[in-house]
Amino acid sequence: MTLNERVPTAGDGRAADAVLSLLRWYEAAGVSMPAGNGVRDRFAETAAEATRRRGTTVSPALDTAASAGPASAPSASRRPSPSAEPPLAPTMPTILPLVPDDVLAADARARAATAQSLIELRAILAEFTGCGLKATAKTLVFGNGAEDAQLMLVGEAPGREEDLAGEPFVGRSGRLLNRMLEAIGLARDSVRVTNTVPWRPPGNRTPTPAETEICLPFTLRHIELVKPRVVICLGSPSTKALLRSDEGIMRLRGRWTTLDLPNGTQLPAMAMLHPAYLLRQPAQKRLAWRDLLALRQRLDAPD
Ligand code: URA
Repeated sequence: MTLNERVPTAGDGRAADAVLSLLRWYEAAGVSMPAGNGVRDRFAETAAEATRRRGTTVSPALDTAASAGPASAPSASRRPSPSAEPPLAPTMPTILPLVPDDVLAADARARAATAQSLIELRAILAEFTGCGLKATAKTLVFGNGAEDAQLMLVGEAPGREEDLAGEPFVGRSGRLLNRMLEAIGLARDSVRVTNTVPWRPPGNRTPTPAETEICLPFTLRHIELVKPRVVICLGSPSTKALLRSDEGIMRLRGRWTTLDLPNGTQLPAMAMLHPAYLLRQPAQKRLAWRDLLALRQRLDAPD
């Protein structure tokens, strides 16, 4: 269905509800105006319009006949040939059918479960169109670091710099994260890093619960494939999504708990304050330091 098809009437309650919820979904995803599927060449449009108005394909600079006045009626040879006009981009996008979030999440679970390696998982995620964030992000930010890391860190979502680079935690908070890891003797490339959603939310907003649920199966499969000894959730959204807790990050941070994975594996996990929060609240770095020491201890202890 496209937006310029028949407008639903009052008797069309269900269709109207569907259109409204779709528009709300677009709004939540940050879409504020309609756009075409391709890049719109406004210069080509202007040239085509001018050509149509003049009824000729001859460039204005060479169009001496046109200045001869109304007596010189346009001949067939001077009428614009349809193929000479640049095609106009469609004015409205094609709207995908509305699929309920739980169906999208179930589809994501089924797809993620088939990945037998990180390369496969990345390819499956790149093909996945069930999360609206993909439409506004520039790149897929899958994850980086050692594929057999003992420690895996899960952040919230890529920001602007991560979206441009296609890598997680490369901006300011990434640089602080690197220093935090170094402080307990861990090189950044020795750990695995990913996020709860792999596409940047518009304007760096927090991912919605639906976006998080739809992307979560890929993050969980990512953890299953890396098989780390320990998982750290960075910040509240990651903690809520992975550890299934509604408690505040200030209560949860620094407490060891268990992460249950879909394949039945259980891993020790802990929430920590997000580096972006620590940049805003440097006084809280003392809590982060406490948690880092607890993490070091855990990594040093035998399984
Ligand atoms: N913040 C996150 O949670 N993840 C990133 O990749 C970057 C910033």
